[in-house]
Amino acid sequence: MTMPGTPDPHHLHVDPEDVRKFGHRMVDIVVEHLADPGGRPVYPPPRTPAEAAALLGRTPPWEGSDPMALLERLRRDLVPASANFLHPGIMAWVAATPLPLPGLLDGLLGALRIFPHAWKLTPGSIQMELTVGRWLAQMVGFPDDAFGYVTTGGTMANLYGLAAARCDRAGWDMRERGVAGGPGLTVYASEHAHICIEQSLALLGLGTANLRRIALDEGSRLRCDLLLAAIERDRGDGLRPICVVGTAGTTPTGAVDPLDAIADVAQENGLWYHVDGSYGALAALDPRKRPLFAGLARADSLAVDPHKWLNIPFEAGCILVKDKACLERAFGCVPAYLSGGDSSAGHDHWHYGFELTRADRATKIWLALSQYGVRAFADMVSAHNDLAAGLHGLLLLDPDFEPVHVPSLSVLCFRYAPRGLPDHAVDRVNGRIEGQLNARGRVAVAGSAFRGRPVLRVCFVNHRTSWADVLAAVEEIREVGKGLADASRREAAAV
Ligand SMILES: Cc1ncc(COP(=O)(O)O)c(C=O)c1O
Repeated sequence: MTMPGTPDPHHLHVDPEDVRKFGHRMVDIVVEHLADPGGRPVYPPPRTPAEAAALLGRTPPWEGSDPMALLERLRRDLVPASANFLHPGIMAWVAATPLPLPGLLDGLLGALRIFPHAWKLTPGSIQMELTVGRWLAQMVGFPDDAFGYVTTGGTMANLYGLAAARCDRAGWDMRERGVAGGPGLTVYASEHAHICIEQSLALLGLGTANLRRIALDEGSRLRCDLLLAAIERDRGDGLRPICVVGTAGTTPTGAVDPLDAIADVAQENGLWYHVDGSYGALAALDPRKRPLFAGLARADSLAVDPHKWLNIPFEAGCILVKDKACLERAFGCVPAYLSGGDSSAGHDHWHYGFELTRADRATKIWLALSQYGVRAFADMVSAHNDLAAGLHGLLLLDPDFEPVHVPSLSVLCFRYAPRGLPDHAVDRVNGRIEGQLNARGRVAVAGSAFRGRPVLRVCFVNHRTSWADVLAAVEEIREVGKGLADASRREAAAV
């Protein structure tokens, strides 16, 4: 009889001392970068796809290599091929800078395979996730007995909220019969709600045409009178409105929708109320901003995103729900091969989300909150709100600039608009500033649009950005803007 071959355990063996050397070197590389956060330009040097591919080879290596040499290759080729997210001049998008110790922790969790799964297997990691969910809920003013499920980011957290809404409010067994089981379902969100709401409708089979984008008031907030009218119109057309999404801090301007008034509409009309607080909910830590979040606690589900304003390394989002059974109705399953053993005392995580096996993303959030304390984050959030308000005040007095709205939180849109430059030239210049700033590498500010015209947008969530960095950014933008405006005037004179 032929015996099956036994895999040689030594093939994948690594000497523990080599693990130590590798880990120390890895930490040294991190520390080198932390010692000089602004040392590398914001943007990586341009590299063509062919150049990038050539560095890695077309086929997997048949034979292995020395891991220390591989780590040096990564230091040489991978690190510089990524934007420098430690840079204090990053003020674009919603771009936080990663806290280093929670970042390093990922290595420990991965190497020891610590992850949230079944209570009988991984009670520590599961409890971390349950505790972190409650902590986040308390920080943003959501009920502290809420259930939190940690996701890869805000996009997934919003998808989970909408998946729960779809199952809960359709009025038939959505899992069994799908969206074809009844009338068309409609969802409502403002014109400035994040694109992931639309993507979620597409993925959930609800259809993007059934997302009603509600127009904004003067403060770029969802208009409740139009929301109500849209719901009534859809009902009249035989459709079934199921969910309204309020945004607590929109991406374009940082505006907070009228959360309490939306809650009234949701309640009166039997709609699920989901709030997207991915960018802004944590601004509730700033006592001056707390009144904007009245009504947030009335939501059925809330997306928060610790990898944004808490500066937690990617990936870390979280969906908070008042009733965890809503996630179980959307996702719950018990595969036969996992039903053995006794987990009844605790909580099996696969019931509450779509992924069976996934990484522990809660423990790094726990580490950051425990290391710094919530007060440090509250101070940072308040300081970021001050940066936006301070910049708004500064630009109002500067004849070269024009802020286009009053900041609600830490986002501000403005344009470089020196006196005498005609509107069409102002638009052209502002449309080009971001590209030129990228090439200089000292500041990252996003090009965006406000009421159909190009603007520059800053969003302060980076814990390294100081007022001095903001002033330096203004001067850099002025210099770039002046060069472009002069060129535009020369072109106009030549015609
Ligand atoms: C308001 C809002 N919602 C959702 C998202 C998506 O979050 P993530 O990039 O973590 O998936 C963003 C991203 O900027 C956002 O600003």
